Amino acid sequence: MNKLIVSLLLTLGISGIANAAGDATAGQAKAAVCGACHGPDGNSMAPNFPKLAGQGERYLNKQLQDIKSGKRTVLEMTGLLTNLSDQDLADISAYFASQKGSVGAADPKVVARGEELFRGGKLDQGMPSCTGCHSPNGAGLAAAGFPHLGGQHAQYIAKQLTDFREGARTNDGDTKIMQGIAAKLSNKDIEAVSSYIQGLH
Ligand code: HEC
Ligand code: HEC
Repeated sequence: MNKLIVSLLLTLGISGIANAAGDATAGQAKAAVCGACHGPDGNSMAPNFPKLAGQGERYLNKQLQDIKSGKRTVLEMTGLLTNLSDQDLADISAYFASQKGSVGAADPKVVARGEELFRGGKLDQGMPSCTGCHSPNGAGLAAAGFPHLGGQHAQYIAKQLTDFREGARTNDGDTKIMQGIAAKLSNKDIEAVSSYIQGLH
Protein backbone atom coordinates (compact mmCIF):
# COMPACT_ATOMS: atom_id res chain seq x y z
CA MET A 1 0.00 0.00 0.00
CA ASN A 2 1.33 3.41 -0.92
CA LYS A 3 0.76 5.36 2.28
CA LEU A 4 1.64 8.65 0.63
CA ILE A 5 -1.05 8.38 -2.01
CA VAL A 6 -3.61 7.28 0.53
CA SER A 7 -2.96 10.13 2.93
CA LEU A 8 -2.93 12.57 0.03
CA LEU A 9 -6.34 11.44 -1.14
CA LEU A 10 -7.70 11.45 2.38
CA THR A 11 -6.43 14.99 2.88
CA LEU A 12 -8.08 16.05 -0.35
CA GLY A 13 -11.26 14.46 0.89
CA ILE A 14 -11.90 12.24 -2.13
CA SER A 15 -14.24 10.02 -0.20
CA GLY A 16 -15.23 12.48 2.47
CA ILE A 17 -18.84 11.67 3.18
CA ALA A 18 -19.99 11.53 6.77
CA ASN A 19 -21.87 8.26 6.89
CA ALA A 20 -24.43 6.88 9.26
CA ALA A 21 -23.31 3.46 10.52
CA GLY A 22 -24.97 0.69 8.53
CA ASP A 23 -26.82 -2.33 9.91
CA ALA A 24 -26.28 -5.35 7.65
CA THR A 25 -29.28 -7.28 8.99
CA ALA A 26 -31.67 -4.40 8.36
CA GLY A 27 -30.00 -3.91 4.98
CA GLN A 28 -30.78 -7.41 3.72
CA ALA A 29 -34.54 -6.79 3.57
CA LYS A 30 -34.06 -3.34 2.06
CA ALA A 31 -31.81 -4.82 -0.66
CA ALA A 32 -34.43 -7.28 -1.93
CA VAL A 33 -35.26 -5.14 -4.98
CA CYS A 34 -31.57 -4.93 -5.92
CA GLY A 35 -31.16 -8.68 -6.21
CA ALA A 36 -32.88 -8.89 -9.59
CA CYS A 37 -29.84 -7.31 -11.21
CA HIS A 38 -27.04 -7.57 -8.66
CA GLY A 39 -27.91 -11.06 -7.33
CA PRO A 40 -29.57 -11.68 -3.94
CA ASP A 41 -26.17 -11.90 -2.20
CA GLY A 42 -24.59 -9.28 -4.48
CA ASN A 43 -22.91 -11.75 -6.86
CA SER A 44 -24.60 -10.79 -10.11
CA MET A 45 -24.65 -13.22 -13.02
CA ALA A 46 -24.81 -10.70 -15.88
CA PRO A 47 -21.43 -9.20 -16.82
CA ASN A 48 -22.79 -5.65 -17.19
CA PHE A 49 -24.25 -5.63 -13.66
CA PRO A 50 -21.50 -5.10 -11.09
CA LYS A 51 -20.97 -7.53 -8.24
CA LEU A 52 -21.54 -5.76 -4.94
CA ALA A 53 -20.69 -8.67 -2.62
CA GLY A 54 -17.60 -8.00 -0.54
CA GLN A 55 -17.30 -4.45 -1.84
CA GLY A 56 -16.17 -1.88 0.77
CA GLU A 57 -19.01 -0.37 2.77
CA ARG A 58 -17.73 3.19 2.48
CA TYR A 59 -17.29 2.92 -1.30
CA LEU A 60 -20.77 1.42 -1.73
CA ASN A 61 -22.37 4.13 0.35
CA LYS A 62 -20.62 6.86 -1.64
CA GLN A 63 -21.73 5.34 -4.96
CA LEU A 64 -25.32 5.07 -3.73
CA GLN A 65 -25.28 8.72 -2.64
CA ASP A 66 -23.80 9.71 -6.00
CA ILE A 67 -26.29 7.64 -8.01
CA LYS A 68 -29.20 9.00 -5.97
CA SER A 69 -28.09 12.63 -6.43
CA GLY A 70 -27.32 12.16 -10.13
CA LYS A 71 -23.58 12.79 -9.72
CA ARG A 72 -23.12 9.33 -11.26
CA THR A 73 -25.58 8.28 -13.97
CA VAL A 74 -26.94 4.72 -13.84
CA LEU A 75 -29.97 4.64 -16.15
CA GLU A 76 -30.96 1.13 -15.03
CA MET A 77 -31.40 2.46 -11.47
CA THR A 78 -33.43 5.55 -12.33
CA GLY A 79 -35.84 6.37 -9.49
CA LEU A 80 -34.89 3.27 -7.50
CA LEU A 81 -33.13 5.16 -4.70
CA THR A 82 -35.43 8.18 -4.53
CA ASN A 83 -37.39 6.95 -1.53
CA LEU A 84 -34.44 5.47 0.36
CA SER A 85 -33.05 7.47 3.31
CA ASP A 86 -29.36 7.90 4.23
CA GLN A 87 -29.89 5.19 6.84
CA ASP A 88 -31.39 2.83 4.22
CA LEU A 89 -28.39 3.36 1.93
CA ALA A 90 -25.97 2.79 4.83
CA ASP A 91 -27.78 -0.43 5.82
CA ILE A 92 -27.79 -1.76 2.24
CA SER A 93 -24.08 -0.94 1.93
CA ALA A 94 -23.33 -2.81 5.15
CA TYR A 95 -25.31 -5.82 3.89
CA PHE A 96 -23.49 -6.18 0.56
CA ALA A 97 -20.11 -5.46 2.20
CA SER A 98 -20.72 -8.42 4.55
CA GLN A 99 -21.30 -10.89 1.69
CA LYS A 100 -18.55 -12.99 0.09
CA GLY A 101 -17.61 -11.95 -3.44
CA SER A 102 -17.15 -14.59 -6.15
CA VAL A 103 -14.20 -14.68 -8.55
CA GLY A 104 -14.13 -15.24 -12.32
CA ALA A 105 -11.33 -16.19 -14.70
CA ALA A 106 -8.91 -14.12 -16.79
CA ASP A 107 -8.51 -14.61 -20.54
CA PRO A 108 -5.15 -16.40 -20.93
CA LYS A 109 -4.45 -14.46 -24.16
CA VAL A 110 -4.25 -11.07 -22.42
CA VAL A 111 -3.53 -11.93 -18.79
CA ALA A 112 0.23 -11.19 -18.97
CA ARG A 113 -0.32 -7.70 -20.35
CA GLY A 114 -3.09 -7.11 -17.82
CA GLU A 115 -0.89 -8.12 -14.92
CA GLU A 116 1.92 -5.88 -16.17
CA LEU A 117 -0.41 -2.87 -16.22
CA PHE A 118 -2.04 -3.67 -12.88
CA ARG A 119 1.23 -4.21 -11.05
CA GLY A 120 3.56 -1.91 -12.94
CA GLY A 121 1.43 0.90 -14.34
CA LYS A 122 2.90 2.86 -17.25
CA LEU A 123 5.77 4.60 -15.59
CA ASP A 124 7.02 6.19 -18.81
CA GLN A 125 3.70 8.04 -18.99
CA GLY A 126 3.51 8.82 -15.29
CA MET A 127 0.66 6.38 -14.70
CA PRO A 128 0.96 4.64 -11.31
CA SER A 129 0.25 0.96 -10.83
CA CYS A 130 -3.21 -0.01 -9.65
CA THR A 131 -1.86 -1.91 -6.64
CA GLY A 132 -1.02 1.23 -4.66
CA CYS A 133 -4.68 2.00 -4.10
CA HIS A 134 -6.53 -1.19 -5.04
CA SER A 135 -3.92 -3.43 -3.30
CA PRO A 136 -1.91 -6.27 -4.91
CA ASN A 137 -4.77 -8.78 -4.61
CA GLY A 138 -7.41 -6.28 -5.74
CA ALA A 139 -9.05 -6.05 -2.33
CA GLY A 140 -8.90 -2.26 -2.26
CA LEU A 141 -8.77 -0.30 0.98
CA ALA A 142 -12.23 -0.28 2.49
CA ALA A 143 -11.59 2.33 5.18
CA ALA A 144 -10.38 4.87 2.60
CA GLY A 145 -13.19 4.16 0.13
CA PHE A 146 -10.82 2.61 -2.45
CA PRO A 147 -12.98 -0.03 -4.13
CA HIS A 148 -12.42 -3.76 -4.14
CA LEU A 149 -11.86 -4.83 -7.77
CA GLY A 150 -10.76 -8.48 -7.60
CA GLY A 151 -13.22 -10.90 -9.24
CA GLN A 152 -15.41 -8.14 -10.71
CA HIS A 153 -16.91 -8.78 -14.17
CA ALA A 154 -14.42 -7.71 -16.86
CA GLN A 155 -17.19 -6.18 -18.97
CA TYR A 156 -18.26 -3.92 -16.10
CA ILE A 157 -14.66 -2.90 -15.28
CA ALA A 158 -13.96 -2.12 -18.94
CA LYS A 159 -17.05 0.07 -19.13
CA GLN A 160 -16.02 2.03 -16.02
CA LEU A 161 -12.48 2.64 -17.31
CA THR A 162 -13.87 3.75 -20.67
CA ASP A 163 -16.42 5.99 -18.95
CA PHE A 164 -13.69 7.58 -16.79
CA ARG A 165 -11.58 8.15 -19.90
CA GLU A 166 -14.41 9.61 -21.98
CA GLY A 167 -15.79 11.76 -19.17
CA ALA A 168 -19.02 9.77 -18.81
CA ARG A 169 -18.16 8.93 -15.16
CA THR A 170 -16.81 11.90 -13.21
CA ASN A 171 -17.57 11.12 -9.56
CA ASP A 172 -13.97 10.23 -8.64
CA GLY A 173 -13.43 13.30 -6.49
CA ASP A 174 -11.74 16.65 -7.01
CA THR A 175 -8.42 15.01 -7.83
CA LYS A 176 -10.05 13.14 -10.78
CA ILE A 177 -7.72 10.32 -9.93
CA MET A 178 -9.37 7.65 -12.09
CA GLN A 179 -10.05 10.02 -14.99
CA GLY A 180 -6.34 10.84 -15.04
CA ILE A 181 -5.34 7.17 -14.99
CA ALA A 182 -7.87 6.06 -17.61
CA ALA A 183 -6.67 8.82 -19.95
CA LYS A 184 -3.44 6.82 -20.28
CA LEU A 185 -5.15 3.53 -21.15
CA SER A 186 -5.80 2.40 -24.74
CA ASN A 187 -8.76 0.16 -25.58
CA LYS A 188 -6.36 -2.80 -25.67
CA ASP A 189 -4.95 -1.87 -22.26
CA ILE A 190 -8.46 -1.66 -20.84
CA GLU A 191 -9.38 -5.06 -22.25
CA ALA A 192 -6.25 -6.66 -20.77
CA VAL A 193 -6.38 -5.10 -17.31
CA SER A 194 -10.13 -5.74 -16.99
CA SER A 195 -9.69 -9.40 -17.84
CA TYR A 196 -6.84 -9.68 -15.34
CA ILE A 197 -9.01 -8.10 -12.62
CA GLN A 198 -11.85 -10.58 -13.29
CA GLY A 199 -9.57 -13.45 -12.27
CA LEU A 200 -7.78 -11.63 -9.47
CA HIS A 201 -8.24 -12.60 -5.83
C1 HEC B 1 -32.39 -3.01 -13.41
C2 HEC B 1 -31.09 -3.42 -12.91
C3 HEC B 1 -30.60 -2.82 -11.60
C4 HEC B 1 -31.26 -2.77 -10.39
C5 HEC B 1 -32.66 -3.27 -10.04
C6 HEC B 1 -30.31 -2.17 -9.46
N1 HEC B 1 -29.13 -1.87 -10.08
FE1 HEC B 1 -27.45 -1.12 -9.21
N2 HEC B 1 -26.53 -1.04 -11.04
C7 HEC B 1 -27.06 -1.49 -12.21
C8 HEC B 1 -26.11 -1.26 -13.28
C9 HEC B 1 -26.30 -1.63 -14.75
C10 HEC B 1 -24.99 -0.65 -12.70
C11 HEC B 1 -23.69 -0.23 -13.38
C12 HEC B 1 -23.88 0.96 -14.28
C13 HEC B 1 -22.60 1.34 -14.97
O1 HEC B 1 -22.19 0.60 -15.87
O2 HEC B 1 -21.99 2.34 -14.57
C14 HEC B 1 -25.29 -0.53 -11.27
C15 HEC B 1 -24.41 0.01 -10.34
C16 HEC B 1 -24.59 -0.03 -8.97
C17 HEC B 1 -23.61 0.36 -7.98
C18 HEC B 1 -22.19 0.83 -8.24
C19 HEC B 1 -21.26 -0.37 -8.12
C20 HEC B 1 -19.81 -0.04 -8.24
O3 HEC B 1 -18.99 -0.98 -8.17
O4 HEC B 1 -19.45 1.13 -8.40
C21 HEC B 1 -24.18 0.18 -6.75
C22 HEC B 1 -23.55 0.43 -5.40
C23 HEC B 1 -25.53 -0.33 -6.98
N3 HEC B 1 -25.73 -0.45 -8.33
C24 HEC B 1 -26.42 -0.65 -5.97
C25 HEC B 1 -27.75 -1.00 -6.19
C26 HEC B 1 -28.72 -1.12 -5.12
C27 HEC B 1 -28.43 -0.91 -3.64
C28 HEC B 1 -29.90 -1.46 -5.72
C29 HEC B 1 -31.25 -1.68 -5.05
C30 HEC B 1 -31.77 -0.56 -4.26
C31 HEC B 1 -29.65 -1.57 -7.16
N4 HEC B 1 -28.34 -1.26 -7.39
C32 HEC B 1 -30.59 -1.95 -8.10
C33 HEC B 1 -28.30 -2.10 -12.38
C34 HEC B 1 -29.27 -2.25 -11.39
C1 HEC C 1 -4.23 6.83 -6.35
C2 HEC C 1 -5.22 5.79 -6.10
C3 HEC C 1 -5.72 4.96 -7.28
C4 HEC C 1 -4.96 4.33 -8.25
C5 HEC C 1 -3.46 4.35 -8.43
C6 HEC C 1 -5.91 3.60 -9.07
N1 HEC C 1 -7.19 3.78 -8.60
FE1 HEC C 1 -8.89 3.01 -9.38
N2 HEC C 1 -10.01 4.02 -8.02
C7 HEC C 1 -9.50 4.81 -7.02
C8 HEC C 1 -10.60 5.40 -6.27
C9 HEC C 1 -10.46 6.31 -5.06
C10 HEC C 1 -11.79 4.95 -6.88
C11 HEC C 1 -13.24 5.29 -6.47
C12 HEC C 1 -13.71 6.57 -7.11
C13 HEC C 1 -15.11 6.94 -6.63
O1 HEC C 1 -15.28 7.15 -5.43
O2 HEC C 1 -16.03 6.96 -7.45
C14 HEC C 1 -11.38 4.07 -7.97
C15 HEC C 1 -12.28 3.40 -8.81
C16 HEC C 1 -11.89 2.49 -9.77
C17 HEC C 1 -12.81 1.71 -10.56
C18 HEC C 1 -14.32 1.69 -10.47
C19 HEC C 1 -14.73 0.52 -9.59
C20 HEC C 1 -16.21 0.21 -9.61
O3 HEC C 1 -16.61 -0.72 -8.89
O4 HEC C 1 -16.97 0.86 -10.33
C21 HEC C 1 -12.05 0.94 -11.40
C22 HEC C 1 -12.54 -0.06 -12.42
C23 HEC C 1 -10.65 1.24 -11.13
N3 HEC C 1 -10.60 2.19 -10.13
C24 HEC C 1 -9.59 0.63 -11.78
C25 HEC C 1 -8.26 1.01 -11.60
C26 HEC C 1 -7.17 0.49 -12.40
C27 HEC C 1 -7.32 -0.58 -13.47
C28 HEC C 1 -6.03 1.12 -11.97
C29 HEC C 1 -4.64 0.98 -12.51
C30 HEC C 1 -4.48 1.11 -13.96
C31 HEC C 1 -6.43 2.02 -10.88
N4 HEC C 1 -7.78 1.93 -10.71
C32 HEC C 1 -5.56 2.83 -10.18
C33 HEC C 1 -8.17 5.02 -6.74
C34 HEC C 1 -7.11 4.60 -7.51
